[in-house]
Amino acid sequence: MSAVLQNAPVLAPMRPEEIDAVMAIEQRAYPFPWTRANFADSLAAGYSAWTCRMEGELIGYAVMMLVLDEAHLLNITVAPDWQRHGYGLLVMHHLFGVARAHGAARLFLEVRPTNAPGQGLYRKLGFETIGRRRGYYPAGSGREDAVVMVLTL
Ligand SMILES: CC(C)(COP(=O)(O)OP(=O)(O)OC[C@H]1O[C@@H](n2cnc3c(N)ncnc32)[C@H](O)[C@@H]1OP(=O)(O)O)[C@@H](O)C(=O)NCCC(=O)NCCS
Repeated sequence: MSAVLQNAPVLAPMRPEEIDAVMAIEQRAYPFPWTRANFADSLAAGYSAWTCRMEGELIGYAVMMLVLDEAHLLNITVAPDWQRHGYGLLVMHHLFGVARAHGAARLFLEVRPTNAPGQGLYRKLGFETIGRRRGYYPAGSGREDAVVMVLTL
């Protein structure tokens, strides 16, 4: 029993002093990563920001904006070495609980059409595509659209 608990991932509110470790993952996980200021501003704005640790090691994080009855996912990342072990699903389910507790009825997000892991994760969770934002993301050559998805919580 104790062995199981020791190996359980721990989710906790992201703290400013964790941004260095978050950035180390962010820069490996994305071709166009968030900046340090994006995370600092998110914390300063009071967004719902979470870290996921396994035996103390930072393995993932997420940032979500909660406004009235709508939630908007701004970032979810699992460290490359820890991907494909269910932690993305775990972090998303944690966010669902937080959003519901806050009174959110729907969770929105944007994802690159070329992001197969992201789209796979969201589809598995029941998100539906509701639109497209033209030229939303920076890309290797110019800009890339965003697919807009929503889940009723
Ligand atoms: C997207 C991301 C968070 C998924 O995290 P993860 O811990 O690897 O995901 P999980 O192991 O929980 O996978 C859950 C489901 O997502 C889908 N999925 C995950 N990785 C996938 C991949 N490489 N290709 C296709 N589908 C994938 C699958 O449906 C998977 O279920 P399955 O393993 O039963 O097939 C992770 O790949 C990541 O951090 N990517 C880089 C950052 C990023 O793109 N974030 C999303 C921005 S919109």
